[in-house]
Amino acid sequence: MAEAASEGVRLYPDPESRALRERAARVYGVPLDHILAGNGSDELLALLLRATVDPGTRVAFPVPTYSLYETMVAAQGGECVCVPFPDDFSLPSGLARAEARVTFLCNPNSPSGTLVPLDQIEALARAVAGLLVVDEAYVDFADANALPLLSRFDNVMVIRTFSKSFSLAGLRVGLAFGPPPLLAGLRTVKDSYNLNRLSQVAGVAALEDLDTMHANVARIRATRAVLAAGLERLGFRVLPSQANFVLARRRGVDLGPLARALATRGILVRHFATPALFDALRITVGTDAEIATLLEALRDEQRAR
Ligand SMILES: Cc1ncc(COP(=O)(O)O)c(C=O)c1O
Repeated sequence: MAEAASEGVRLYPDPESRALRERAARVYGVPLDHILAGNGSDELLALLLRATVDPGTRVAFPVPTYSLYETMVAAQGGECVCVPFPDDFSLPSGLARAEARVTFLCNPNSPSGTLVPLDQIEALARAVAGLLVVDEAYVDFADANALPLLSRFDNVMVIRTFSKSFSLAGLRVGLAFGPPPLLAGLRTVKDSYNLNRLSQVAGVAALEDLDTMHANVARIRATRAVLAAGLERLGFRVLPSQANFVLARRRGVDLGPLARALATRGILVRHFATPALFDALRITVGTDAEIATLLEALRDEQRAR
């Protein structure tokens, strides 16, 4: 990026992000024409909905999940079909029957961290009426991914981001993998120069240095196990996480006060004041030292209550 931040920035970036897509094609074993680069994966989600949703179009997803789907569908005038996850966050059977033009599956899901296995995603791809979009923002922290489905289904799209495992959220780089006719539709509604020169260069550099990302992921997975075990020892129910955060629950207990008490100690965890999640905290896997501090603070809070 330092090299690219030269007088070259006088020039417009490549509207097709070709070098980035070529590198991604090699890394992920997906043909170049099946890849579209976006200004973060949020842009790719927005392009997809802009290209596919008319007023009243049905878009289905299991909930609770990434809250932006609902916002973006509403912005296009579409109709959200929200299918509740069961208690264990396994794939809800009603999703396939939602008669939606687009079905989202965030996998691993946020905020639960849970992963739907590949054979079930495959069955879902076969069963849905329209397009299945698998949002794999957190997939580098998981044991499986849905890219193998691309060569067998013309209604599956996989969306990735460089914001999580590659630690490049500030540069806004995302990738969509899908059938070329669908990607052509997305191109018709995208800004010509959606990715700036420096972000394209950073994306290529990140894909040339997968070792750094893998080392980061390995560290986070190891700390995730320590965090989950520590929370369970403190009496929380922790869903099996395949992401870089865990969801910890105390059935029926509003954890808002606990989140606020942690905040006064300078520890920020996510509490959602909703009927489905009021008794849960989403906790990001920090460093080992941060996790030790958190577990100690939780012990203190429990003693005080
Ligand atoms: C499930 C999910 N999808 C997509 C995104 C957006 O990522 P990006 O930074 O690539 O826009 C996020 C960010 O939090 C996310 O949690």
